[in-house]
Amino acid sequence: MKLLLLHLLYVQATPLNSTQCSANSIATPQVYGAEITSLTTALVTNYALEIPTFSNNWPAQNISGLSFCQINVTLTHPGANDTVLNQVWLPLEAWNERFVGIGGGGYEAVSNWDTLAPAVQRGYAAVGTDAGVGMNPNSADAWALASPGNVNQYLLLNFASRSVHEMTVIGKQIVESFYGNPPKYSYWQGCSTGGRQGLGEAQNYPDDYDGIVASAPAVNWNDFTPAQQWPFTVMNNERHFPRQCEFDYATAAAVSACDAIDGLVDGIIGAPGRCFFDPVTIVGQTFECDDNSTVVFSNDTAKVIRMIWDGPRTEDGAPAAQVWKGPTTLDGDSLWYGILRGANFSTLALTFTWPNGSTVAQPFAISDSWFRDFLYKNASADTAKIDYSEFQSLFQKSHQQYDSVIGTSDANLGPFRKRGAKMITWQGLADSTIMPNGTANYYDRVNSIYPDTQDFYRVFFAPGVGHCGNGYGPLPDDVLGALRDWVENGTVPETLATTSASAINGTIRHQALCPYPAVSKYKNGDPIMSTSYECANEF
Ligand SMILES: *[C@@H]1O[C@H](CO)[C@@H](O)[C@H](O)[C@H]1NC(C)=O
Ligand SMILES: *[C@@H]1O[C@H](CO)[C@@H](O)[C@H](O)[C@H]1NC(C)=O
Ligand SMILES: *[C@@H]1O[C@H](CO)[C@@H](O)[C@H](O)[C@H]1NC(C)=O
Ligand SMILES: *[C@@H]1O[C@H](CO)[C@@H](O)[C@H](O)[C@H]1NC(C)=O
Ligand SMILES: *[C@@H]1O[C@H](CO)[C@@H](O)[C@H](O)[C@H]1NC(C)=O
Ligand SMILES: *[C@@H]1O[C@H](CO)[C@@H](O)[C@H](O)[C@H]1NC(C)=O
Ligand SMILES: *[C@@H]1O[C@H](CO)[C@@H](O)[C@H](O)[C@H]1NC(C)=O
Ligand SMILES: *[C@@H]1O[C@H](CO)[C@@H](O)[C@H](O)[C@H]1NC(C)=O
Ligand SMILES: *[C@@H]1O[C@H](CO)[C@@H](O)[C@H](O)[C@H]1NC(C)=O
Ligand SMILES: *[C@@H]1O[C@H](CO)[C@@H](O)[C@H](O)[C@H]1NC(C)=O
Ligand SMILES: *[C@@H]1O[C@H](CO)[C@@H](O)[C@H](O)[C@H]1NC(C)=O
Repeated sequence: MKLLLLHLLYVQATPLNSTQCSANSIATPQVYGAEITSLTTALVTNYALEIPTFSNNWPAQNISGLSFCQINVTLTHPGANDTVLNQVWLPLEAWNERFVGIGGGGYEAVSNWDTLAPAVQRGYAAVGTDAGVGMNPNSADAWALASPGNVNQYLLLNFASRSVHEMTVIGKQIVESFYGNPPKYSYWQGCSTGGRQGLGEAQNYPDDYDGIVASAPAVNWNDFTPAQQWPFTVMNNERHFPRQCEFDYATAAAVSACDAIDGLVDGIIGAPGRCFFDPVTIVGQTFECDDNSTVVFSNDTAKVIRMIWDGPRTEDGAPAAQVWKGPTTLDGDSLWYGILRGANFSTLALTFTWPNGSTVAQPFAISDSWFRDFLYKNASADTAKIDYSEFQSLFQKSHQQYDSVIGTSDANLGPFRKRGAKMITWQGLADSTIMPNGTANYYDRVNSIYPDTQDFYRVFFAPGVGHCGNGYGPLPDDVLGALRDWVENGTVPETLATTSASAINGTIRHQALCPYPAVSKYKNGDPIMSTSYECANEF
């Protein structure tokens, strides 16, 4: 009896080895509507990766000596002529009995396969998919059109929602086959497109995940993506192209005008929604550009910058409702929100100055691809020619043709809520790419349906932080950890702990972020300590 028990213990403690990491010992997953076309495995040992900056919700880190079983599963949807690659990475030792789906960015359903590594390093079984659309975050040119004039609706559906669900179904089956047990808990982690994918899972496939980290979500994709093209359209129509140093000068002026509103003068606008700094007030000021030339801040530059901060508006000031029924927090003729003051212009209002001083605008690649491939359905269409009237009709077209496919903005989270799943969104207020107000609006709409929203969905805004990181503000330490504690232990994330990636005012700062609509307000004491802040209704 005693011997038998020892034997059982011995078997259980045997580390998994290369025998288990073989296609023969893994049952072929089943997915209704898809046909598995291959399953291959590789034993990866001594894997190493340097991640120099905060990314995918995790801090900078170096990974080394990692061993895992890499399983590639390809599938096709008969009739669609597509090939989707899913990868499942399974830690060989110390599996934490959890499963995590990893999201993508831009037009990528997974940012690159290496983004699975930090999860595996922490003991998770991780899965990602290329959705059959390849690996180019900036452009859909390679796959969007089945032929000129015809969007490949199958691939768009893959990218928008289908592949994320299928990779989850596949990943869970492989986990069970490999380890002999299904995962105890399943989580989603993604930012930007990955955030949208997470919201989509909560909306459409509420059983897939017990917890979802949906950061800086690309919610209302088909509405804010046209809005991303607004700065380019404004510059072309005003025939005025400010240099990057002029944009930076306006940002610096906004920061000094609005820095104190949050109670702390630290170079970060904590309350950008209350910053109404008007760039007209700095017209005539002179400053040095990065090439040491002297620049005068002009009226034309002020106008362009004000229009960018305002966000897209209807052509003739007519109520936006005549174009589409947008969020109620948008005023009269607003089609979508603008980026907030303090956010870097160089993403959406990118200009380039030649040595002779002439400056040209470059469109933001992702929105430009959206206009060409999905709105014009012509990969070589010239988006620089779009005037305000055409911008408005393309905005409307984008909503009408794509909302049901990729809007991912359904506020009905009933089934997700009912089964006790939890979701955390966080986003930088200085996000240069996705307007934070769209995220707040999504939360507001969820909250208007479920008065107990805070019991299952919380949104945290991070002052001074850019898109999925970047910027100057403090970044969340461990969002997935906070989510797990909520899901598994019922520990409500009253705040999110953060650490700045670099010094703010000379020192690394910690600040506790508060769940929207609450704000993280400086109380007293040393601004580098999170205990010096409190959650308040307003600044
Ligand atoms: C999985 O696919 C990736 C990308 O195509 C490839 O580099 C890797 O070798 C494949 N691994 C297996 C086990 O087939
Ligand atoms: C990663 O390693 C590099 C040198 O190999 C080092 O400069 C860097 O500080 C390390 N990063 C972290 C987060 O440890
Ligand atoms: C299927 O896709 C392949 C490669 O992506 C392409 O070469 C082929 O023409 C397609 N077949 C059909 C029937 O569309
Ligand atoms: C905006 O980003 C660009 C590119 O990273 C950088 O050169 C510039 O200094 C940033 N501007 C501000 C105001 O932070
Ligand atoms: C920033 O540094 C300056 C100069 O050292 C100091 O006067 C100020 O109080 C600091 N502000 C914060 C928020 O730490
Ligand atoms: C945008 O968001 C900011 C910050 O949360 C808020 O103060 C502001 O009122 C919002 N603006 C709109 C138009 O909703
Ligand atoms: C600008 O001037 C500084 C010194 O004032 C010099 O170091 C730098 O090289 C100059 N930059 C350019 C682009 O000329
Ligand atoms: C800027 O434009 C306003 C009105 O359009 C005008 O009153 C003002 O004189 C202009 N300022 C400069 C410096 O050109
Ligand atoms: C400046 O240089 C660029 C690139 O060579 C050229 O396209 C442009 O026409 C020039 N502009 C002027 C005003 O000479
Ligand atoms: C596609 O765009 C190109 C470049 O603007 C244009 O020449 C062509 O006529 C367009 N095709 C159609 C069908 O509109
Ligand atoms: C749950 O609570 C236990 C006991 O406090 C703790 O050890 C564990 O780390 C918590 N789990 C998570 C996922 O935070």
